[in-house]
Amino acid sequence: MELIFEKNRKGSPNPYFPKEDPAGSRKAGDVLPKGMLRTEPDDPNKRLALPEMSELEVVRHVLGLCRRQVGIDSTFYPLGSCTMKYNPKINEAVSRWPQFAAMHPLQPDSTAQGTLQVLLELEQGLCHVTGMDAVTLNPMAGAHGEWTGILIIKAYHDSRGDKKRRKILVPTAAHGTNPASAAMCGYEVVAIPGTEDGLVDLKGLEAALGDDVAALMLTNPNTLGLFETDILKIQKMVHDAGGQLYYDGANLNAILGVARPGDMGFDVVHMNLHKTFSTPHGGGGPGAGPVGVKKHLAEFLPVPFVKKTGDRYEMSSDRPKTIGRVGAFYGNSNVYVRAYAYFRTYGRDGLPEVGKHAVLNAAYVLAKLQKTYTRPLKNPCMHEFILQPTKEMLAKGVRTLHLAKRLIDYGYHPPTIYFPLVVNEAMMIEPTETESKATLDQFVVAMEKIAKEALETPELVINAPHSAVVGKVDETKAAKDLDLRFCACE
Ligand SMILES: Cc1ncc(COP(=O)(O)O)c(C=O)c1O
Repeated sequence: MELIFEKNRKGSPNPYFPKEDPAGSRKAGDVLPKGMLRTEPDDPNKRLALPEMSELEVVRHVLGLCRRQVGIDSTFYPLGSCTMKYNPKINEAVSRWPQFAAMHPLQPDSTAQGTLQVLLELEQGLCHVTGMDAVTLNPMAGAHGEWTGILIIKAYHDSRGDKKRRKILVPTAAHGTNPASAAMCGYEVVAIPGTEDGLVDLKGLEAALGDDVAALMLTNPNTLGLFETDILKIQKMVHDAGGQLYYDGANLNAILGVARPGDMGFDVVHMNLHKTFSTPHGGGGPGAGPVGVKKHLAEFLPVPFVKKTGDRYEMSSDRPKTIGRVGAFYGNSNVYVRAYAYFRTYGRDGLPEVGKHAVLNAAYVLAKLQKTYTRPLKNPCMHEFILQPTKEMLAKGVRTLHLAKRLIDYGYHPPTIYFPLVVNEAMMIEPTETESKATLDQFVVAMEKIAKEALETPELVINAPHSAVVGKVDETKAAKDLDLRFCACE
């Protein structure tokens, strides 16, 4: 598809912005406000490089681009570890109400009572679903929440004079942001091995625990889509060694309303509101990564926070042992409004249906596809699962990357691939609760057709996608020799 600049047609008819006619009566200033007229001399090098196009051409160009967008509103998007669920449009609409969207973060609290009430009630809702005692809405992404949570753990140990705890334990299957956050807080990261079943290796954990360990970071279900069935033992081992247990809530969708990290013994949890609680994502934000803590850590939470006295709400920074500010103002408030609307829509009785259906949908697709693909882990899956190409496919030269790209030709967004790193040729599929059985069945048929092609016409799969605007790009060259400039020229 041509870029809009390449569509430049000199002299395209545009009746709405007539050319200035120096000889006639119509001047540019009659059409456009005087203050908007350019005053530079008519030097061609200084002219705005806007393409000359008619309105119809612009509309067609933009609509053409829209049609090429892939998103949850246009197709099934089984991107594992990302919870690409459908987000009800009413939440979007509510977050755009001027009563929320036109607020200024510096306006007096007395004029923001409704918004402050929403924020406080959202904190309470998040406490309820995670089993935590206090929540901060400050962090603006999951990784930002991790960083905040680890700083809170550090402040806690420091406040007790326990300064020798220099290590954070992270399972080998963890998301890369976990070790990165720990390292950014100045900790040494120690990898904890997994068992053949994909769970935390208790012997490995025991060997790593000691009075120099500040915390263990864990997701449950873990990044392989499996529930850590030894979680109560794990929490006891960590706490007995004086450490804290950190919950990476990226996979909270699987247990929403059914089980709570707080009840499993976690001390700190971050939530990715842009995954579990209704914010479209995948395009780079905005997101939100609120952090919940147990009582003994509440005094270290960042500031500001919403305080309620009688029936009045105010923003306060009166928290003497706080780790301080982790961002400007109080996070991404439009994301909070969506999450609040989501909470209110489902209610206490509805939320457990989210977790249950997310798991049911994943288990259904897995049960179908394990007949055609290799399933590396045998434990029951939660809301997502991992498959691999079969030996026969690999023998034909067909790898996970090829299968994923071929899905594009069938109209699907590819699943997450080569993550977690501990599984060779991993293909991680997360259907989410919002997909119907009919959609899942169609996806299964596409995956089965691709499996057949992989064996009978492997070149077709290896060279996919065939229908996309851009074919297979040379990713190594793109990484090593990145060139993002647009050249409208020659
Ligand atoms: C397991 C896990 N942890 C942490 C994160 C980081 O979250 P964010 O992208 O919001 O920073 C992700 C993101 O996909 C994740 O899947």
